[in-house]
Amino acid sequence: MDYAHARHAGNAGDVFKHVALLAVLDELLRDPAPLEYVETHAGDGLYPLGSNGEWSDGIQRLWTDPGTPYASVALVSRYAQLVRGFSKPVAARPEVYPGSPLIAKALLRPGDRMRLFEIDAQAARVLRRTVPDAEVKQEDGLAQLAAPPRALVLIDPPYTQKQQWIDAARAAARIPGVPLLLWYPIKALTRPRALIHELAKQGVHGTAVELHWTPLRLKRDRLNGSGLIFVSLPRAPVGAVCAALVDLGPALQTHGEWGAVEIGF
Ligand SMILES: C[S@@+](CC[C@H](N)C(=O)[O-])C[C@H]1O[C@@H](n2cnc3c(N)ncnc32)[C@H](O)[C@@H]1O
Repeated sequence: MDYAHARHAGNAGDVFKHVALLAVLDELLRDPAPLEYVETHAGDGLYPLGSNGEWSDGIQRLWTDPGTPYASVALVSRYAQLVRGFSKPVAARPEVYPGSPLIAKALLRPGDRMRLFEIDAQAARVLRRTVPDAEVKQEDGLAQLAAPPRALVLIDPPYTQKQQWIDAARAAARIPGVPLLLWYPIKALTRPRALIHELAKQGVHGTAVELHWTPLRLKRDRLNGSGLIFVSLPRAPVGAVCAALVDLGPALQTHGEWGAVEIGF
């Protein structure tokens, strides 16, 4: 594999994605019927953090006293506290970062299931150790994706190749009506807008919410922002994520300004 998420764990993209995951699970778990949580690109599940890393512009920015009031109180505070729970209570900085499978596991109920795809052998081994009760498949998550009965699907590819943008849209089109969260990186708007166009062309409609923590006019090695696409989901989690932007934007901005966009399609 030409991608290892460990380098990026806990960065601003993870923060935005995992706050949204929390909001979506909050909503879907209001229904007592069992839920299957499906991830096409699950990663390691848990990432030890070195003394330097992208996490310093991500989760570190929320590493405040547990009592810090955020305007979008419940959601961002709960996310920050959930992540804090994986490090020692007195730690001045995060020691490890929980990936999406562990964020989901923290919310899922005993009757719910997790089906996790991870193509990299080493990452799949770590994932099996990290979430032993999940069904972990060392397979191509996009190729294997099928419509489960009552589920939430998270699609979170590494986007190291242009084709992954197209494959993600095509996979989304194969599961009509299934609640879906799709994450994408933003360095410029060309590919994100092409993704939305491709989804619509495939008959997939929903809402995209983007957070730009670095002005798009600045070209950097790192992300300028990221986006989340909500499909076949009620408005409540989209609204909760939009409300959280007033906390996440100021916390994650890198150059004194931030922006956000909501696109319905
Ligand atoms: C962005 S990371 C996942 C992070 C994880 N979703 C999280 O938020 O904690 C992408 C992962 O996808 C894996 N991967 C890449 N191509 C894949 C494929 N076709 N099927 C399944 N996993 C894949 C990579 O090995 C990597 O671990």
